[in-house]
Amino acid sequence: MKNAAGALLSSIQLDRNSRVSVSVQLYQALRELILSGGLRAGDRIPATRTLAKETGVSRTTVIDAVDRLVAEGMLVSKVGAGTYVSDTLESQRPPQIVNDTETTNVPKPRLSYTISHAQESFAPRAWLPHKAGSFVTALPALDAFPVAHWSRISARHMRGERGLVMGYGEPKGFAPLRRAIAMHLKALKGITCDPEQIYITTGAQQAFSLIGRLFLNPGDRVWMENPGASGARNALLSEGAELVPVDVDAEGIVVEDGLKKAPHFRLAFVTPSHQQPLGHVMSLARRFALLQAVEDAQGFVVEDDYDGEFYFGNSPQPALRSIDTGERVIFVGTFSKSLFPSLRLGFTVVPHRMIEAFDRLFASWVSGPPTMTQAIVADFMDEGHFATHIRMMRRLYKARFDTLMEASEVLKGAIDVQPTSGGFHTPAFLASELDEAKVIAQAAERDVTLAPLSRYCLAPIEQKGFALGFGSATPEEIRKGVDVLRDLPEVRKKLV
Ligand SMILES: Cc1ncc(COP(=O)(O)O)c(C=O)c1O
Repeated sequence: MKNAAGALLSSIQLDRNSRVSVSVQLYQALRELILSGGLRAGDRIPATRTLAKETGVSRTTVIDAVDRLVAEGMLVSKVGAGTYVSDTLESQRPPQIVNDTETTNVPKPRLSYTISHAQESFAPRAWLPHKAGSFVTALPALDAFPVAHWSRISARHMRGERGLVMGYGEPKGFAPLRRAIAMHLKALKGITCDPEQIYITTGAQQAFSLIGRLFLNPGDRVWMENPGASGARNALLSEGAELVPVDVDAEGIVVEDGLKKAPHFRLAFVTPSHQQPLGHVMSLARRFALLQAVEDAQGFVVEDDYDGEFYFGNSPQPALRSIDTGERVIFVGTFSKSLFPSLRLGFTVVPHRMIEAFDRLFASWVSGPPTMTQAIVADFMDEGHFATHIRMMRRLYKARFDTLMEASEVLKGAIDVQPTSGGFHTPAFLASELDEAKVIAQAAERDVTLAPLSRYCLAPIEQKGFALGFGSATPEEIRKGVDVLRDLPEVRKKLV
C-alpha cells in the first residue's frame, strides 16, 4: 500500500484472540479512521485484495467490513474506479471531541435550572447497598428469602400465556397484583381502597418522583422530616421542591415547627410507621395535627411506609392513610424490604380525586416494572407466601434486633444503641466527645460499614451517631460487628 491511506491502513491491529470477530474489528478500525479524519473525503481505499494481504485476513472478511461501511454511506463504491471515502464527510463531519479526562476545553452540558438547584441539596451517597453485613442499612434478610416458592411460580409463568407476561402491561400495573395489594393493605394496615386507586411503580423512589411531577411547581414548599429519608429528598428536589427541614421528636414530625417555618406548603413527606432514620412511630395526636395542617394548607401528605410490615412492638398504629377522611394522604409502599430490592417494585395508593390525573400520567408515558415480576408477586401474595414470609421476617428481625441490643451493652457510654419497635435499622448515638468521621473511617478499614445520621440531614442536627442496620446480618455477624466497634481506637477512648 503506497499512498497515505495505505500507510494508515497498515497501522490497523487485529486481535485474533478477541471475542469480537475480525471482520467487525476491521469495520470498527476503518470507521474510526474515517470519523477521526485519518482518512479524508475522496481518499481511495486500497483494493480489497490488497487490504486482505496487508492485514493478513481473508478477502471475504475485508469485503464484509467494506460492504458494511458502504451500506452506512461512509464509503462509496464507483464501478471500475474503486472505493472512496464519501464526500458527505467533508461538509458534514461532526466536530471531534477527545474523550479524555485530561481535556478541559470541552464545555459541560447546560443543566436545567431545576436540577442545578436540586443538586446543591442532594443527600450525599443516597445509593443503597447490595452486600449484606453487620450494620448495613436498607437490606432485608436475603438469606431467609423463600427462593423455592419464587422459582416455582416464576417457572410456571414462563410456561404460561406468553402475551400476559411478555407483552406490554397495563399502564397502572398488573390488575391481579393491584387486587392482592388492596387485600394486603386492608389486613395489615387498616387501609380500605379500591384497586383502581393503586399504581404500580419501579419502587417507592419512582412513586415520590411521580407525585412531585404531578403536584409541584418549581419552588413549592415541601415539609421534610429532619433527619429524614435521603432517596425521597433527592427525588422531590429533582421535581423542583423547595424542601423545608422540619424537626422530629419521639412523636414524629413536629407539626408546630413546620407551621412556623412554612405554613403554606404543598406536600409533607413523612415516615409515620418507622421514622427514617430515628425509628419512632408517629403518635396519634401528631397524626391528627398533621392532617389538620395539610387540610389548612390545602396540601397533601406523602406517607412513606417502607418497612411498616415489620412492626414488632406492642401497640401498632394504623396507617395515616387509614384515618385520612379528607383525602389528603398519598400512601407509598415498596416490596424492596418485604421481598427484595432488586425487584424494583413499589406502589402508591392515591385519593379518589387524584385517579384521573394519575391515570393520564401512567397511560401517557410512565413505564412501570416488568409484568412478569408483577405476576410472580401477585401469585406469591395470592398463595399466602407473602403473609407467611412477613410473619417469619417479623420474628427474625425482632430476634436480630434483640441480639444487637444485648451485644451492644459493651458499647454503652461510647455508642448507645436506641430501642426501636420495628423495621430493621435503629439509631445509635455517639458520645459527643467522639469523632463521627474517625469512627466511620476506622470501621471501614475493618470492613464494617456505618451510615452516619448526618447523611439523612437536610439541616444539621446536634446528635451524632449512625443508623445501624440489623436485618441482613446473622446474629453471629452482628456480634462480630459489635466487637469490631468496641475495638476501634476512637471508641476505646471512651470505654477505657
Ligand atoms: C425511607 C425509605 N423509603 C423507601 C425506600 C425504598 O425505596 P425503593 O422502593 O425505591 O427501593 C427506602 C429504601 O431504603 C427508604 O429508606
